[in-house]
Amino acid sequence: MPKARNLKALPTLNAVRPENFSEIAFENSWDPILILDGEFKVVAMNGAAEELVGFVRSEILGDSIFRLKATKHTGRSRSIEPELFDLGGTVEDVLIERKDHGVRVVDFSSRRVEKQGVLNYVLLFRDHTGRKQMERDLIIKHQELKAAYIELEKKNHELKASQETLIQAGKMAALGELAAGIAHELNQPLMSIRGYAQELEAILKPVITGLPVETEVTLSTREIISQADKMAKIISHLRTFTRRSTEDMEVVDVRGPIEEALKMLDRQFKSRGITVERDFADDVPQVYANSLQLEQIFINLATNARDAIEQMGRGSGSIRISTRKVGQFAEVRFTDDGVGMNDRTKQKAFNPFFTTKEVGKGMGLGLSLSYGMISKVQGSIRIESEVGRGTTFIIQLPRDFRELG
Ligand SMILES: Nc1ncnc2c1ncn2[C@@H]1O[C@H](COP(=O)(O)OP(=O)(O)O)[C@@H](O)[C@H]1O
Ligand SMILES: [Mg+2]
Repeated sequence: MPKARNLKALPTLNAVRPENFSEIAFENSWDPILILDGEFKVVAMNGAAEELVGFVRSEILGDSIFRLKATKHTGRSRSIEPELFDLGGTVEDVLIERKDHGVRVVDFSSRRVEKQGVLNYVLLFRDHTGRKQMERDLIIKHQELKAAYIELEKKNHELKASQETLIQAGKMAALGELAAGIAHELNQPLMSIRGYAQELEAILKPVITGLPVETEVTLSTREIISQADKMAKIISHLRTFTRRSTEDMEVVDVRGPIEEALKMLDRQFKSRGITVERDFADDVPQVYANSLQLEQIFINLATNARDAIEQMGRGSGSIRISTRKVGQFAEVRFTDDGVGMNDRTKQKAFNPFFTTKEVGKGMGLGLSLSYGMISKVQGSIRIESEVGRGTTFIIQLPRDFRELG
C-alpha cells in the first residue's frame, strides 16, 4: 500500500529541521561548492570541492583561493583572477591547479552575497577537464583526418599523372613496334632504288663512254647508291634496335654500345653545337651484360646530356666520356656541362616517372630503367652534379657478375 510507505518515510524527514536542508544539500552536492570571504579567502567548501582541488578542508580553509592558480596555461583557458568573481554569471574554461599539481579545467558561477555588512562569494564549480580533453582529442583527430585527406588527394593526383604517363609509355611502345614495321617496309623500296641506280649506271655506260657527261652521270648514280646504303644502315640499325632481344648476356667491350649510342645521336649533337670527347683506357675489362641494354643506357645518358646542355641556352656544349678499370669493374664516366641537378632532382632522378621535362619530352623512365638494368648485373650507377656546372654519371659494371656471387 503506497500510503503506508509514505507515512513510514515521513518521520525520518521530519527529524531534520528545514534550516539544515541547505547544509545537507551543500555537503552532498555532486558539484563542488566553495565559499570565499570578501578577501577571497576560502571560508567553507564541500566534499566535492575537496575532491576537485585535492586539499582537505583543514589544509586550505583560511587560505586565499589564488593558491589554486595554475602556473601554466593552455589554449583559450584562463587563470583564476579576482575580477572573475564580480562578473556574476558563469565563467567558462578556468584553470585551477590541484594540490598534486594536476590542472583541471572548470566552469564556475559566482554569486556575491552581502549580509549585515559581511561580503561572501559563493562559487559553484563544474569540472570539464574530461570534456576538454575529449575536445582536444577531437580537434587532433580532425586535423589528422584532414591531413590524411590531403595526402589522399595528393596520391590520387599522382596516380592520375602516372596513369597518363603509362598511357604515354604505351604509345611509345606502340610507336617502337610501328618503327620496326616501317623500317621493314622501307627496306624493300630502298633496295629497289639502289638496284635501279646500279642498273642505270650499267645501261648508260656504253652509251656515254667518252662523252663529257660521263662524270656527271656516274657521280649521280654513285651518290644515289651511297645514299641508299646509308639509309639501309639506319634502317637495319632501327630494326635490330627494336627487335634485338634484351635478355641475352654476352661478354662485351663497353666501348661498342657507347659508340652505337653516340652514332644514333650524332646528328642531334652536331646541330646543337655539342662536341663529344672520348677518353678510353686500354685495360678496361670486358663486361658480361646485354649489349642492347647497355646501348639503351648510353642513349638515355646521351639524350639527358643533350637536354641539359640545351637548357643552358648557350647554343653549344660538351660531353666527355671516359672509361677505366676499377678492380674487377669497368667504370664509365659520362659528363656534360649542362644545367646540372639540385639536391631534390638528384635524390629523385632514379625514381620511375620522375621528370623535370615538359609533357611529351620526358617520361622519367630512362634513369629508372637504366638503374634496373645495371642492378641486374650487380653494377652501380651514381650521380655527381652541380647546378649550373654540369653532371657526371658514374657507372661501374662487373667483369662477370656471376663471379661476384
Ligand atoms: N645529365 C643531366 N643533367 C641534368 N639533369 C638530368 C640529367 N640526367 C637526368 N637528369 C634529371 O633526371 C630526370 C630523370 O631523367 P630520366 O629518368 O632520364 O627521365 P627523362 O629524361 O624522361 O626526364 C630528368 O628529368 C632530369 O631532371
Ligand atoms: Mg631521359
